[in-house]
Amino acid sequence: MRRGGTYIDATVGLGGHSYEIAKRLGAPGHLIGLDKDPAALQIAGEKLAPQGQGQTEIDWPTITLLHRSFAEIAKGVQAATVDGILADIGVSSLQLDDAARGFSFQADGPLDMRMDPRGERTAEQVVNHLDERQLADVIYEFGEERRSRRIARAICRSRPIRSTAHLADVISAAARPMNQAERRIHPATRTFQALRIFVNRELDDLQALLEAAPRILKPGGRVVVISFHSLEDRIVKDAFREGSKEGYFSVLTKKPVTATELESDRNPRARSAKLRAAEKV
Ligand SMILES: C[S@@+](CC[C@H](N)C(=O)[O-])C[C@H]1O[C@@H](n2cnc3c(N)ncnc32)[C@H](O)[C@@H]1O
Repeated sequence: MRRGGTYIDATVGLGGHSYEIAKRLGAPGHLIGLDKDPAALQIAGEKLAPQGQGQTEIDWPTITLLHRSFAEIAKGVQAATVDGILADIGVSSLQLDDAARGFSFQADGPLDMRMDPRGERTAEQVVNHLDERQLADVIYEFGEERRSRRIARAICRSRPIRSTAHLADVISAAARPMNQAERRIHPATRTFQALRIFVNRELDDLQALLEAAPRILKPGGRVVVISFHSLEDRIVKDAFREGSKEGYFSVLTKKPVTATELESDRNPRARSAKLRAAEKV
């Protein structure tokens, strides 16, 4: 990281990474933070206020927080002006732990799943209005769920479904674990992942971010992406490989960086995290 540089945290969340970046940037620097979730930005704003952490105003960067998808990362940013971009994609603990947001099958709540409350479709609309074929395709494509057809049929027969617990019960009854390996994860895990990705257009946003990044990065600037499942990791890997072939990216991670055993023990979510980085040539 370069003291005094311009960095974009594309997924501010609760501000953990942003805070660490801000500390290293110091007063001459500029940190731009984006998130789709205004509730997260509210919390991050307090954490990142200079007086919030006993920092002196003198050595704290300018911080601009924007309620925006990272698909629009380049909006208002001039070409070749950014030193680094970090994206730690997926859901935050704030979203997952709040039953009212509807992300979790472990707590009952409305079927919402929108990271951005302005988003035009909720999981409830998807679950109750897509036809059986479309629903099966979403569950297969974004959840990599082999039993997508059976699950889609069960969902359609149980409509209307309004809550996460009802949906989880329907899926559990339709897709009982067939072996020990399947018993290790809840039968609704893949379907919930699929709905979340579809509701939030997560893969399209990631693609847009990776397309825009090389335009706004300075030569030598870096983009770092942390992802949590194979669909996202594949998109990042392919975009970096394409950039390297075309000559605008140098890939810094031949293999993705993963968490150590110790880190995974302390933070179980880190177990599936993969980090990839590339430098603008
Ligand atoms: C894993 S959390 C980030 C945690 C953060 N690094 C921290 O230190 O607290 C992911 C965040 O990305 C946000 N997010 C997901 N997709 C987004 C998108 N397309 N545009 C902007 N923010 C997004 C979510 O709302 C969530 O707050």
